Amino acid sequence: MTEKICLITGATDGIGKATALALVARGFKVVVIARNMEKVSAFIREIEVPGTTKKVDYILADLSSMDQVIAMLDTFRQRYDRLDLLINNAGIVMPFAKLTEDGFETTFQVNYLAPFIITNSLLEHLGRSEAGRIINVTSSVYALGKFDLGKIDSITNYSAITAYSTSKLYLLMFTEELAGRVKGLTANSMHPGIVRTKMSTQVQGFPFLFKMISFVAMPFAIAPEQAAVTSLFLATSETVSKVTGKYFVNSKMVKTNSKFDTPVNRGKLWDHSMNIWKAKQH
Ligand SMILES: NC(=O)c1ccc[n+]([C@@H]2O[C@H](COP(=O)([O-])OP(=O)(O)OC[C@H]3O[C@@H](n4cnc5c(N)ncnc54)[C@H](OP(=O)(O)O)[C@@H]3O)[C@@H](O)[C@H]2O)c1
Repeated sequence: MTEKICLITGATDGIGKATALALVARGFKVVVIARNMEKVSAFIREIEVPGTTKKVDYILADLSSMDQVIAMLDTFRQRYDRLDLLINNAGIVMPFAKLTEDGFETTFQVNYLAPFIITNSLLEHLGRSEAGRIINVTSSVYALGKFDLGKIDSITNYSAITAYSTSKLYLLMFTEELAGRVKGLTANSMHPGIVRTKMSTQVQGFPFLFKMISFVAMPFAIAPEQAAVTSLFLATSETVSKVTGKYFVNSKMVKTNSKFDTPVNRGKLWDHSMNIWKAKQH
């Protein structure tokens, strides 16, 4: 049987790392997209057995830089002619407002724009798979997100919670729109639960409300290995092999609920993101 190839972002820590380890255990070749060479080397040391066939590859890229994302995609396409599974897992919460080198609010670019560009750039590769699957790791806080495309290159009146939840709303809307536009592939999004990771525990510098939420939620938080179960389910289960454009929690399909998540807004978001992407390519 042909070895399945998975590209995953954010596998140097937390949920992504647990997901990547589990996928390797299930026989996938996993290509890790990471920004930190030391962490990716440690990850490979942890997983590879010297003298055996390599199960993990990596390409360095900081997702807050479009140039680095483009270079990473070129490298991937040179090394591989097919992709079976794409997991857009990397995510951040920014305690303070910061524009990227491309002029966008950082949370927007890392959590939404980078997955949009990566996914659209790899559709041909995914189409060469027998059954290409795309998994976008969003969050239930998407429900607090606001649809305001005018804000993506602005950092005035910044709120970490609004920026994060809006980026996750956009990722959810993108998944639904993509599923309607692309045939022969599946694209689903998921919420991993409240998970004990760097993101949820290292809250120095965040506003008081954010620290309080973390403090109250942590006793109920699950381990990254438990959170990875839904990603693994979407990656491997036959029961979802034809399901697309849906949102999952605890490996169950859940109806989404945001007044902003309309066909018109999804179309606007798609066009706006595509225009950003096209402007970069010219
Ligand atoms: N933890 C939760 O309770 C929770 C709840 C709902 C949704 N989520 C979502 O689950 C996903 C994984 O989160 P986590 O909790 O596992 O977080 P985490 O432990 O902080 O891991 C985040 C991963 O993303 C990578 N990353 C962050 N910014 C990056 C950038 N600019 N370029 C490249 N890689 C970058 C990190 O790389 P480094 O190792 O270099 O930092 C790390 O590998 C995220 O999308 C998050 O929004 C988490």
